[in-house]
Order: sequence, then C-alpha cells, then structure tokens
Amino acid sequence: MAEVTLGAKGLNAQLKDGSTAYFNYYWLRDNCPTSFDRQTRERTFDIFHEARAPEPESARIVGDGLEIVWKSDGHRTLHKLDWLAAYANGTPRRDPADLPRRLWYANHYPDIARFRQPELIADKALVAKWVEAMLVEGVAILTDMPDSDEGLTQTARLIGHVRPTFFGEFFDVKTHVNPTNLAYTAKALEMHTDTPAEDMAPGVQFLHCRANSVEGGDSLFLDGAAVAGDLRAECPEDFRLLSETLIPYYCEHDDYDMRSRQRVIELDDHGEVAGVTISQHMADVFDLPQTFLDDYYPAFCRFGRMLQSPKYLMRFRLNAGECIVFDNHRIVHGRASYTAESGDRHLRGCYTDRGEMRSTYRALTTQGRFK
Ligand SMILES: [Fe+2]
Repeated sequence: MAEVTLGAKGLNAQLKDGSTAYFNYYWLRDNCPTSFDRQTRERTFDIFHEARAPEPESARIVGDGLEIVWKSDGHRTLHKLDWLAAYANGTPRRDPADLPRRLWYANHYPDIARFRQPELIADKALVAKWVEAMLVEGVAILTDMPDSDEGLTQTARLIGHVRPTFFGEFFDVKTHVNPTNLAYTAKALEMHTDTPAEDMAPGVQFLHCRANSVEGGDSLFLDGAAVAGDLRAECPEDFRLLSETLIPYYCEHDDYDMRSRQRVIELDDHGEVAGVTISQHMADVFDLPQTFLDDYYPAFCRFGRMLQSPKYLMRFRLNAGECIVFDNHRIVHGRASYTAESGDRHLRGCYTDRGEMRSTYRALTTQGRFK
C-alpha cells in the first residue's frame, strides 16, 4: 500500500506508528514550517492570497517527514511526521495551563497555598507554583507584603498587568473610625463575585491587607465550583437553569450605567464547572418571562442558600501584611460585620486577568512551539 494517497481535498499519509491519517490541503499548505517567521514567530504566509485551492503536484514520505510539492508555485513543504501525528485526530492542542481543579471546602484555611512576597519577587519558579495554585484551587495567600501602595502593584505585575475596572486601577476598602457617627457601621458583606455588571468581569482579584485591628470583620471565602458541583449532583434541573440562563447584572449611578448578562454557573470547554458569577446586590430586575421565573427563582435561591452553608464557608482573619489572591470567576467572597469603633481596617485591592496569568504560567513552565 502506498504511504501517501492523494485525494480531492486532502491526502492520507502513513504515520510512524503505521496508522493512516487524513490531512486537508489548505491546512498542510497554511502550516508549512516556512509560513512562520522565526523572529516574530508569526505566520507570514497569507493563504487568503492564494488564487486557487492548494493542490499537490506530488507528495511522499521522506525519512521522518512528509514532503509535498505544490502545483501552483512549486513550493516545497516538509512536515515532520511526529508533528502531523499531534494534529491527526482534531483534538485540541494540549494546554499546560488547563489543569484539573481541586475543589475545597470550609476547612481549607490551613492548606491554602502560601508564598512569601519577597521570595516570589526573587524566584520565577515560585511564581509558577503560585499560579499553579491559582489554576488548581483558585486561591493563595501572599505574606510579608511591603506596606506600600507599590507593593501591591509590584506583586500583581508578577502575573499580569493591572486591569482597571470602571472604578479605576485600584480600590481602597477603608473604615475611618468615627464613633459619633452611628450611620457609618461596618455591616456584613454578602457572598459575591466582583463587578458582574462588566462585560468581562476581572479575572484575578488581589486584596492586600494593610491594617486590621478591628473586632470582627472576618473574611469569608468559598469555592463556587465546589458548591455548583454539589448542586449539579443534587438538583440537576436547577443546575441546568443556572448554567444556561443569562441573567442581568447592573451597576448604576449618576455617571455610569453598567449592564451585562451572565450565567450564574460557568462551564469550561470540558463541560466542567469553571466557576460562578453571583452578586445579590448587583443582580438587576430579572427581565425574563414570569412563568420562567416560576422555575428560575427557586433554583437561584437554592444556590444562594448553599453559598451560606458552613460546609463551604472558609472563615478567617486576614492580617496586616497578607494579600489574598483569588479567581474572581470561581471564588465567592464576603465579609462578616465588625465593630467600627474598635480599630482600623484597610484593604487595598486590584485585579489582573486570567488569560494573562495562564500565559505567564505557560511561558514559565513549558516549551512553546518556537523554543
Ligand atoms: Fe468584593
């Protein structure tokens, strides 16, 4: 049997393991190794400028490669058989940043991945470990943070650029103690993800604790993927409603009117729960058919009640000099109330994006196509 058989739109070639695989002519021509510039690493060959569908004059196996000579211009393409084998089945290219999630529950606090900030600054391998914790568990605590505004910027820059939101590049959660003003109480903050009203809510949130001497004010965190996973097992129909239905979120004031539609439960490319988008204080009036709400609201409330369950809630005190970093599309956070007159509390926060964090991880841990 011939090692290469030419067809109308593609060819069959025998791979190293003896199996025969089909490859499309456009794909073979477009991805010729000469198509890519070694310096910029970008594709410089432009298939849009080909007048006709690519067609081989000849094709044969030469050593460990497939050689094709193209009819239109006599261009010669040599593809390595190992490289072809990786694309033979149409399965997505392996992504080193696509790591399985490890779900966690209320007792996770002692096991949170912890890193000393000065060591992260000095050691890229440690940054990779930090990002790995972010990808797998969605949360990490950095300690020994410098007590400065720059300290947070410098730390965020280790995994990406600071990503502004509509309220700026940074935010400060501060309570100035004023016992004469009882209106200034430090109320509990219900469990939420940040700024769901944005088209693309920020991916990674940093909360740098600069001062915390108040009584109360415990931080509350939970793994939204763990809660959603349980909902999937317990109430598949509720899970379906929350993972398929787009609901409106808003954030409105005199000078802005942010609106977006999000699914409360987000799935990844594998159909696994990636995370959640939830905020009772930013959920807009549901503009969905009222009879649909007969089913949606009970599902929404069931999930909201699960977010209060002690099974999931990790409760702890964030200390001055610590910075908690978490996936804003997976980890749900809140704060217990505190006694305003009891001391100072100052958190400085910012965001980076998850795509850039994954990019940093790939670059730190693996060889790309061009290395
Ligand atoms: Fe928040």
